[in-house]
Amino acid sequence: MCGIFGYVNYLVEKNRGEILSTLLEGLKRLEYRGYDSSGLAIDGDKPNEVFIEKAVGKVKELEKLVNSQNLDTSKVFESHSAIAHTRWATHGAPSPLNAHPHRSDPTHEFVIVHNGIVTNFRELKALLMSKGFVFETETDTECIAKLCKYVYELNKHRNLDFSQLAKLVLVELQGAYGLLIKSVHYPGEVIATRKGSPLLIGVKTDKKLKMDFVDVEFPDITVEAVSTTDTLPNPSLLQVANNGLLNPLMGSDLRHSQSRAFMSEDGVPMPAEFFIASDASSVVEHTKKVLFLEDDDIAHIYDGELHIHRVRRQDGQSTTRSIQTLEMELNEIMKGNYDHFMQKEIFEQPESVINTMRGRIDFDTKTVTLGGLSAYIQTIRRSRRIIMVACGTSYHSCLATRTIIEELTEIPIVVELASDFLDRRSPVFRDDTCVFVSQSGETADSMLALQYCNERGALTVGIVNTVGSSISRQTHCGVHINAGPEIGVASTKAYTSQYIALVMMALALSDDSISKTARRHEIIDGLAKISSQIKTVLQLDDKIKQMVTSELVSQKSLLLLGRGYQFATALEGALKIKEISYMHSEGVLAGELKHGVLALVDEDLPIIVLATKDSLFPKVVSSVEQVIARKGNPILICNEGEHPVSRPADKSLRTLEVPATVDCLQGVLNVIPLQLMSYWLAVLNGHNVDYPRNLAKSVTVE
Ligand code: UD1
Ligand code: F6R
Repeated sequence: MCGIFGYVNYLVEKNRGEILSTLLEGLKRLEYRGYDSSGLAIDGDKPNEVFIEKAVGKVKELEKLVNSQNLDTSKVFESHSAIAHTRWATHGAPSPLNAHPHRSDPTHEFVIVHNGIVTNFRELKALLMSKGFVFETETDTECIAKLCKYVYELNKHRNLDFSQLAKLVLVELQGAYGLLIKSVHYPGEVIATRKGSPLLIGVKTDKKLKMDFVDVEFPDITVEAVSTTDTLPNPSLLQVANNGLLNPLMGSDLRHSQSRAFMSEDGVPMPAEFFIASDASSVVEHTKKVLFLEDDDIAHIYDGELHIHRVRRQDGQSTTRSIQTLEMELNEIMKGNYDHFMQKEIFEQPESVINTMRGRIDFDTKTVTLGGLSAYIQTIRRSRRIIMVACGTSYHSCLATRTIIEELTEIPIVVELASDFLDRRSPVFRDDTCVFVSQSGETADSMLALQYCNERGALTVGIVNTVGSSISRQTHCGVHINAGPEIGVASTKAYTSQYIALVMMALALSDDSISKTARRHEIIDGLAKISSQIKTVLQLDDKIKQMVTSELVSQKSLLLLGRGYQFATALEGALKIKEISYMHSEGVLAGELKHGVLALVDEDLPIIVLATKDSLFPKVVSSVEQVIARKGNPILICNEGEHPVSRPADKSLRTLEVPATVDCLQGVLNVIPLQLMSYWLAVLNGHNVDYPRNLAKSVTVE
């Protein structure tokens, strides 16, 4: 996810080298959020000059680039403003051009870093292009930088201060933003503002601040509306402007206010440093004094002071923003209220699955549009077979969705472990479609298999979480699962998002089939409810923790039984348990029980059976009975009120009840109790949940 970092020093001498390292360190602290490119803007050697540096890849690539520029790092700035950004591509691929900061024009009059999405950027772009602005990137952000210059030029005669200019610009933006603006017209100043995207400002001063709050400043007078109306042709823009745009305080005493918090005893300006960031992780090492902006706050930092402006006063709204002392340590900030990243990511699943579907499924018309596949749908439909290639958890998401892809597309599907596929030098043909599923997009085995398939002329498709990763770039087309960065080594939210992305692929591939319409609609209706059902399953957390504490934590081994759709769930659950709790665990196809595994069953071996209702339910019930007959005492994951064994004698059977959904989606819900179980097994055994021994998040070696 994108990250913002800004640094302003006032009467605190810093040389350029120090400023650059503050920025680069700030960006590195945001790395954990995931990103694909980064950039920064600092003052140049001459007045009115701004240097912008941008690079694809890790922050160290940006660092290398900056070092290679032979900038005069000894140049001292008594007062300076700098902005920086890590970008997670949304509009436009990762590239130096699309990375932030974005600029208003080749001389960098206004430079901008932005988190979020400007939803009316097309209209703004069209307007600005008609005014002669030349756009150079595919991003939505660029229009903000250009709009700043446009509004500045229009209002030049008014001598606006930076916050007034910002108000005129912001009122035209729709969507979400966390935004920093820097301009050669306002040297040493920064505008920091947010709407729906977090932003906070760290304050560092030698002397104690006089107040632990900052006043919110409202316009004293509301005068005639709109300065730019006549230039905004689009009716919706016009409306926004008429309703909201306040004419700046013409003729009023600019900068009439002084911030009470920053006023020094003797009236002499106070040296100060400001650290502006989208999350506290990059600020706490500099200062614990922070102010969290609220939506629509416009923070204006200049002359060592921080002013908060708003366009209008609203009843009941606080007129101050407190400067808080953050007691949190870095790790706590990044993990939010959770103890571990894995736990956070498990609990993020109601949102991450929505992000996977966002903009792709229209639940009213029951249509699925995958932008990344649309040009290739016909080719995939015509392919002789689909080969799905992946490792670990990603392989399990392929297994989990294979049946529904096969059912809807009627194309034969092969699911391959990347390493085995390569070991066998499996034959691949030009009319094959090869689907590579990977969270990181960097897994070496999957990458090599991809190159192998590309060399053989097959169509290659990626189902990848990390935008700009090698697999995403080297496949012909694909779908980003948009689950957000996954930090815990054990993959959780990526699994459920991959699962849903693959089901969406099956839906998109089969939307020309009339005979499949009813089935497709049933699945789309199921997807509409899946997020709230995940929330319900997550409520099992306490029960699972108790179950693990009372009977599983000291066991040596655990079996998971499933069949049909739930075989993949059993394998995935067993992998989660192995990798973080170090307990031996095996996913067994329930139908295979009697072919050997039954010999292990006794009253001691813990067994979990995936026994939710689908066409194979009667067979699963029979497996449960076979286990009970051998004195086994299984834990059943079943649907609410659908207990598979209802005889009175079996009342002691323990169940974890999950809501029912369409058969092919049930695995999304069933895997969650197993994720939680593995989590508690690891925590209660005292293991390092997020960084299990011997494992890495991204396996870039064969
Ligand atoms: C894209 C944008 C999204 C925007 C939407 C609006 C990106 C990354 N996504 O989403 O921000 O809201 O358009 O129209 O710019 N691809 C591969 N291999 C992969 C994954 C993807 O080649 O493994 C390709 C796709 O074929 C596509 C591009 O990357 O050309 C973006 O894929 P995806 O993000 O899934 O596309 P959209 O959902 O259309
Ligand atoms: C298990 C896990 C691994 C990965 C595997 C593939 O929790 O995380 O099994 O699933 O290493 O990684 P990606 O999906 O990044 O290709």
